[in-house]
Amino acid sequence: MLRRSFLQGVAAGTLVSTSTFIKPSLALTQLGQSHFELVAEIGKRALGPVGTSQADLWLYKGTTPGPMLTVTKGDELIVNFFNNLDQPTRIHWHGIRNLNEMDGVPDLTQVAVDPGEDFTYRFPVRDAGTFWYHAHSKAWEQVARGLYGPLIVREPDTNSGIEDITLVADDWRLTEDYQLHEESLGSMMDWSHQGRLGNWLTINGQSNPAIPIKAKNLARIRLINTANARSMTFEFEGKKFEVIALDGEPCSPFVAFEITIAPAQRVDILITTDLNGFRLSEISTGTPVIVATVKVQTSDVSVLNTSNRLNLQVKTFRSNLEMVDIDIHMQGGAMGNLASAFFEGEERPLQELAMEHSKLWAFDGSIGGSAHFLAEVDLGKTVNLRVCNDTSWPHAMHLHGHHFWVKFYEFGGEPKRVLRDTYLMQPNERAELQFVADNPGLWLFHCHMLEHHAAGMGGVIAIS
Ligand code: C2O
Ligand code: CU
Repeated sequence: MLRRSFLQGVAAGTLVSTSTFIKPSLALTQLGQSHFELVAEIGKRALGPVGTSQADLWLYKGTTPGPMLTVTKGDELIVNFFNNLDQPTRIHWHGIRNLNEMDGVPDLTQVAVDPGEDFTYRFPVRDAGTFWYHAHSKAWEQVARGLYGPLIVREPDTNSGIEDITLVADDWRLTEDYQLHEESLGSMMDWSHQGRLGNWLTINGQSNPAIPIKAKNLARIRLINTANARSMTFEFEGKKFEVIALDGEPCSPFVAFEITIAPAQRVDILITTDLNGFRLSEISTGTPVIVATVKVQTSDVSVLNTSNRLNLQVKTFRSNLEMVDIDIHMQGGAMGNLASAFFEGEERPLQELAMEHSKLWAFDGSIGGSAHFLAEVDLGKTVNLRVCNDTSWPHAMHLHGHHFWVKFYEFGGEPKRVLRDTYLMQPNERAELQFVADNPGLWLFHCHMLEHHAAGMGGVIAIS
């Protein structure tokens, strides 16, 4: 029944909702299940200021970001996915400690969903938090064209009364008439440097949208960075806020005035709202850009009881002396130290790899990819991924299927040990990413600057 109406919808070419804000998509919810339909399709959306022309994009269910999928921790998430593009695709559920066969990785965990085909993703959702989904086939192109959306997992029975807002930030490279800059997709200049940086920032697919919130004195804002390569730093007109979760995982709350979010990372904050609302600015370039305006909707501010806090469970780190060490040296790129690397069984000059194969980055002397195995680990062992960034560029390192502990220096003062799924490494930084290998399967570890991944910065950890 569901499948038939789904396919009829596709045949009729229904492009859903052009509404301004991300709304939970219509779910046919049964107890303990969350059921959604997603279609990847070609369509048009305006990314520029009001009145500018629409850009040709790739969309999930007619929008970018795609529909917000809201589920409850412990639910089984079922997504009937249909590919209406003219190239193969797959969906990855970023940050979800997933079943390996639902992880959406080409040449590793899932065969392609070809044009005109469908696939049903079905998996239990074990952690509450802020996650996202995105295309993982030619992600450097498919994500740049708009194929991503938010996935919000709520704690069961929480009703704190706190306003809950999701803001998805993306960095587009647009032409003067607000079309996607297509000629530069695949530019080796981008691939060898920072990745594809944009020139236009949207929040929830719009230029400086007004975000309505109900008048309450606290709001939880979930920020998601879906850019191909740009790390962003946000501030709220100098207002202080509390950081309560990183990459979906609750952390011991701490106060901040600005927050940096690398590609694929998420940050949840709590901020006090008053009647004036506030503006959200991106400040990383030194020239602040107002990217959204939060507007309070009514004149009556209801003050939340202080006991009305979110009851988030912060996990505690346990040290383990018997760790399996995996050493990884990240290499290559422009101004790097890599003259040659192994690729398809042969050592070749980096110059040649770049020109003939678009490969520019390596792990330990080998161009990486989903055929490059970094380690085999016994199920249940604690792993210490000791990663050295021997390149001249920052990299947002992401591990599939697990969350890792990492010492986090970003906020000054004492380092904090936090759980993340994506960690921004500075040039010459050495980091230890520690995790319990409790999820069997073949898991990708790669840079989430999507051009870097495509150009060789990735490998596989096999857990069994
Ligand atoms: Cu969000 Cu391998 O990706
Ligand atoms: Cu990188």
